Amino acid sequence: MSDQNDLPEEPSDRGSATSSVHAGELRQQEANAITTPIYQTSTFWFRNSKEVTDYQEGKSDREEYGRYGNPTWRAVERKISALEGGEETVLFASGMCAATTTFMALLEEGSHLIVTSDCYRRTRQFIEQFLSRMGVEWTVIEPSNLDAFRDAIRPNTKIFFTESPTNPYLRVIDVPAFTEVARAAGVMTIIDSTFATPVNHRALDDGADLVLHSATKYLGGHNDLLAGTVTGPRETIDPVRKALGVLGGIIDAHAAWLLLRGIKTLDIRMARHNENGLALATYLETHPKIKSVFYPGLPSHPDHEVAQRVMKGFGGVVTFEIETDLEGAMRFIDSTQIPYQAPSLGGVESLIELPVTMSFWDKSKEERARLGITDTLVRYACGIENSADIIADIEQALAKV
Ligand SMILES: Cc1ncc(COP(=O)(O)O)c(C=O)c1O
Repeated sequence: MSDQNDLPEEPSDRGSATSSVHAGELRQQEANAITTPIYQTSTFWFRNSKEVTDYQEGKSDREEYGRYGNPTWRAVERKISALEGGEETVLFASGMCAATTTFMALLEEGSHLIVTSDCYRRTRQFIEQFLSRMGVEWTVIEPSNLDAFRDAIRPNTKIFFTESPTNPYLRVIDVPAFTEVARAAGVMTIIDSTFATPVNHRALDDGADLVLHSATKYLGGHNDLLAGTVTGPRETIDPVRKALGVLGGIIDAHAAWLLLRGIKTLDIRMARHNENGLALATYLETHPKIKSVFYPGLPSHPDHEVAQRVMKGFGGVVTFEIETDLEGAMRFIDSTQIPYQAPSLGGVESLIELPVTMSFWDKSKEERARLGITDTLVRYACGIENSADIIADIEQALAKV
């Protein structure tokens, strides 16, 4: 069987399109196949006892048991490491698994965590409901408020965790500025880069210690799998990988293979997502029935200057508020014909949702008001359809409001 020693040398200055296609995969596969096989096996056998002891002593590079590794995932891990410019990646069954396992591995009783307010609600829930039981303390700060971040740092602060861009307001963090402050205080920065992808922003290059993804979104790209990843230096990744072996949130080999296949087109898909996002946001901004548009590619966005500096593209998600009431917003969504009404983002099919009836349904009216989630706020996650069709569809749906 081919092993990691057969990996071809990959120049580190390759572009993200070339790395999406080739990085991390063995050039010479079984039977001269071009694609990496799906290793659908739970365990890996040893031909004799010497092979066992060689493996235990770290003298051979092979797999042992499916909870600790599988060659199909390894290819995905290496591909993402190349795309992010990181040393090692760990692959998980979902983005939530990536976040929870990383927190469990790196925090201990008495640690303090700083997190931004505009973060995926289940990440926030894990911190409030579960990390609190472990005796972890946390402080929530507004995204982009560097002074609030400086003030929140305590002697026991271990991690600063934020998305960039955030959800649903697409706030873009000045990662170089935040990581400079964090590093000086001995605080580790973890960026959830799900909305950016390594095509639009490489957080490790900007000083982040770890970069995390819900690979369910743009990396997979086809609304057909769930996965998560964490990438960074070997010494930081090592305890996370060991924690995964204990907590067990591993991905199935078939889903890992679908992810590998999805990533091959990441670069060209992101170009279209970026194009569609900008076209839709620009169209909406001058529409008389639209109250406000949040898209970091628009000069009206509060973080436009930061986004232009740190990002190569602004992604496919556009958030906007319609000049109507809840009933009108529902009529608008129900009148669209291209997007599916569903949570999630990043796939080839456009998705649309009213956060008030979906992701923030379980929050009280007061809590929603505090978070700025109004009844007519819409999140549109552009797929890779033609922008003219997306806009024409929005136009006819807005005409019904
Ligand atoms: C920014 C972000 N991070 C993490 C997650 C969790 O990922 P998953 O759904 O793959 O568990 C999500 C899910 O919506 C997300 O939007």
